[in-house]
Amino acid sequence: MDADLLIADCKLATMVKGDVPYGAIEDGAVLIKDGRIAWVGPRADLPEYKAEKIETLEGRWVTPGLIDCHTHLVFGGDRSGEFEQRLEGVSYEEIARSGGGIVSSVRATREDSEDELFASAMARLKGLKDTGVTTVEIKSGYGLDLDSELKMLRVARRIGREGGVRVRTSYLGLHALPPEHKDDRETYVTKAIEDILPAAHAQGLVDAVDAYCEPIAFSVEEISRLFAKAHELGLPVKLHADQLSDSDGAALAARYQALSADHIEYSNEDGIRAMAKKGTVGVLLPGAFLMLRETQVPPVDLMRQHGVPMAVATDCNPGTSPVASMTSTLNLACVQFRLTPEEALSGATREGARALGLQDELGTLEVGKRADLAVWNITRPAELSYWLGAPLLHSAWVDGQRRI
Ligand code: NIG
Ligand code: FE
Repeated sequence: MDADLLIADCKLATMVKGDVPYGAIEDGAVLIKDGRIAWVGPRADLPEYKAEKIETLEGRWVTPGLIDCHTHLVFGGDRSGEFEQRLEGVSYEEIARSGGGIVSSVRATREDSEDELFASAMARLKGLKDTGVTTVEIKSGYGLDLDSELKMLRVARRIGREGGVRVRTSYLGLHALPPEHKDDRETYVTKAIEDILPAAHAQGLVDAVDAYCEPIAFSVEEISRLFAKAHELGLPVKLHADQLSDSDGAALAARYQALSADHIEYSNEDGIRAMAKKGTVGVLLPGAFLMLRETQVPPVDLMRQHGVPMAVATDCNPGTSPVASMTSTLNLACVQFRLTPEEALSGATREGARALGLQDELGTLEVGKRADLAVWNITRPAELSYWLGAPLLHSAWVDGQRRI
């Protein structure tokens, strides 16, 4: 077998579902050809090969490159002042209703140039990359007018070209009402659906469509219109669902075969059942849960019971989740939501890929998949969920190219 690269002397957490925890192979090897995994298995079974390069990892653990399937990485300004307000007892909803919150990031994002947005997002991206992330989803939603939404999405695409990670974009036009439409939501909703989304799609800037379903944001009816348009354009949908209240978001997401329903702290059992039926992934965002000091834990047991795949993501954003570490997020998912370390790592690999519709390309170490790998200085995979803030990464590879 001809290969560009042989990775050897390593332990593999393939994350392939089966009887072996983490799909582990204790003494493994990987052959990489044209950016994809050409062969993977126990070193003893390695076929005859010719490799351009050999990388020996001195027994280190290799996992699929981590996937952060829910971020708002691109934004202007800073909201640490709101953090201070919340510590004094003002709630997130109160801040939002009094003109702060998402809308304050909208003001700052509109003011920033594309270069400024790119530079600040790249600084945050470093935290994700240093914790093993090789694929990141980035949402719009702090522009909320045509030019600013397109600007955000262009910056996200640029990060995909220049940032050393794979990027998927989501259009999040129904995130908040922009200040100029404060008193006429119908005009804005129609504009987001009929003008901004089609324009962004026509420019190749949109991989999926997202929305924020909540009394302080948008209703099931408004989002249904958006999702119908997304389907008309051939785009999959995702949803910020049931974060602060049971808004029937999980059922709405399932009704439109959403790739994922995210947050889902308050989702009800019918919604979870509907998600299971449609294969909608539940994306857990423990950073936002922590920062808002939430007490309602997402229905993890119900998801296990009904077989809803669970992903884990940072939700990196300036308001509710100023979190730029994927491994710390795994820890929070275990400590706060009682995921097992294996479930948490699956959530940042196999199920994170599914939440982006990329399960055939990414998320496990299997023949044919992209050679996106993270190599770790750990003795057991559970360490990835155990440490808070320890530097565990040895190297990261995207399409078989070393990026860190
Ligand atoms: O995922 N829930 C809505 N969107 C973000 C928060 C955005 C913000 O406050 O800026 C979230 O938590
Ligand atoms: Fe979010």
